Amino acid sequence: MKKRNRMIIILLSLCMILGGCTKTAKEDEKPTSVVVGFSQLGAESSWRIANTKSMEAAAKEYGFGLMMENANQKQGKQIDAIRSFIAYQVDVIVFSPIVENGWDNVLKEAKRAGIPVILMDRMIETTEENLYTAYIGADFYAEGQRAGEYLKRKADALGADHMNIAEISGTIDSTPMRDRQRGFMDAICGDERFTVIDSICGDFLRSMGEECMRELLKKHGRDGIDVIYSHNDSMTLGALTVLEKEGIQSGKDIILITVDGEKEAVSQLKAGKINCVVQCTPNLGGDVMQLVERMKNGEAIQGVFHPEEGLFTDFDDLTDPAVEGF
Ligand code: AHR
Repeated sequence: MKKRNRMIIILLSLCMILGGCTKTAKEDEKPTSVVVGFSQLGAESSWRIANTKSMEAAAKEYGFGLMMENANQKQGKQIDAIRSFIAYQVDVIVFSPIVENGWDNVLKEAKRAGIPVILMDRMIETTEENLYTAYIGADFYAEGQRAGEYLKRKADALGADHMNIAEISGTIDSTPMRDRQRGFMDAICGDERFTVIDSICGDFLRSMGEECMRELLKKHGRDGIDVIYSHNDSMTLGALTVLEKEGIQSGKDIILITVDGEKEAVSQLKAGKINCVVQCTPNLGGDVMQLVERMKNGEAIQGVFHPEEGLFTDFDDLTDPAVEGF
């Protein structure tokens, strides 16, 4: 036997021995044919945590490798993560942009590298065409409109002739912040019963929701606010703890309108402390991976995909088992 052949046999035997020693349950999993680089923007809310889980579960279900980086609310970290996915030559990049602007350069780099990009959950503003393939996420404008339509119905039911609204907004320059605000304002615009007296940013964080509520009460007094429109449940639940401490009956003294639909918010709706929960599903992983699969099979994908969403309100039969949070 030639020296070279002997060497190959020794190496193959070594591989088999080592393979045998390191056998794990993972051997039974499907081989990974596709690697998805996923830049998650943070872990600021229950919504975000559920969204991350949904991406992980769906990647596993489809047998895709998932390289995930969490940016802890920093745009710079998201840009670094996307650059590392390009260097690694992943098959597809998925990312949830914390804000809408400032992505052109890194997305041009992905385009030059021939890596398709899917935007998940949030949109971007760009001057250049074709920097991303598809967007999968909520229609935040429609969510804002639903919140505004609910308020008009509530004002009718109460026979209210005037209501002061304070808004607790999400992260400035993010798509849900911009569009939930626009949709809401468009829905109530021209209705003279409503005045938006304030809008402060709570960054989608529960702790900030508390802070914002304290500040609003300090500025406007408990009688100066009739409605709180909060851009997510985390901030709403934070605000609720302040209202409770102050002995203010939310749901009655102050109308609370929130967005997301997490379990805790839905149970506060059932308890009469929140009036309206506009749904925003975090379960986008399945749709994202399905799109990746179609791309892998050579389909040319382009477009905007919105999940179906609705709302739960104090006008509904809240004993219906369909009224539940994520
Ligand atoms: O982009 C979706 C929003 O981000 C959710 O409403 C909020 O909870 C999250 O932090």
